[in-house]
Amino acid sequence: MNIEVRYYSKSGNTKKIANAIAKQAGVSAKSIHEPIQGEVDLLFLGTGIYAFDIDPELKGYISTLNPANIKMVVVFSTAAIVQSAYEKTKKYLQDQGLHVSDKEYHCPGHYMILRTGHPNAEDIKKAEQFTRSILE
Ligand SMILES: Cc1cc2nc3c(=O)[nH]c(=O)nc-3n(C[C@H](O)[C@H](O)[C@H](O)COP(=O)(O)O)c2cc1C
Repeated sequence: MNIEVRYYSKSGNTKKIANAIAKQAGVSAKSIHEPIQGEVDLLFLGTGIYAFDIDPELKGYISTLNPANIKMVVVFSTAAIVQSAYEKTKKYLQDQGLHVSDKEYHCPGHYMILRTGHPNAEDIKKAEQFTRSILE
């Protein structure tokens, strides 16, 4: 199975989760600035939430993805207040014609005085467990 992990991360929180997911999947996590080559069975795509939305750069990235080359996308996210970026990210992915898993991973992400210390060791462990459950 060809697995790719891509993330959009301004301050490193989502990147930490991306690295945990990638390690479990036996691949390297890369930022969205690294294009996807060839056919992909499973794309783990992660983001933070900024001003209650996903970043315009991530929306632009999603619009470059070719649904013919990517079988399934699994969304993961971090945020300080909102509970998930899943619904927003899923909408853009589906508008692009991509299949999106109904399973997602979300954990708190540190921002200013909020959610200090997150993602923490427990968040990383849960991300690893989530990845294993997807790959089973
Ligand atoms: C410019 C900016 C705007 C943000 N706006 C929100 C927001 O509207 N809602 C929220 O829950 N978190 C918000 N956050 C917090 C981030 O979603 C949180 O820190 C997340 O973990 C960032 O992920 P990253 O480090 O991968 O960029 C914001 C963070 C930044 C830097």
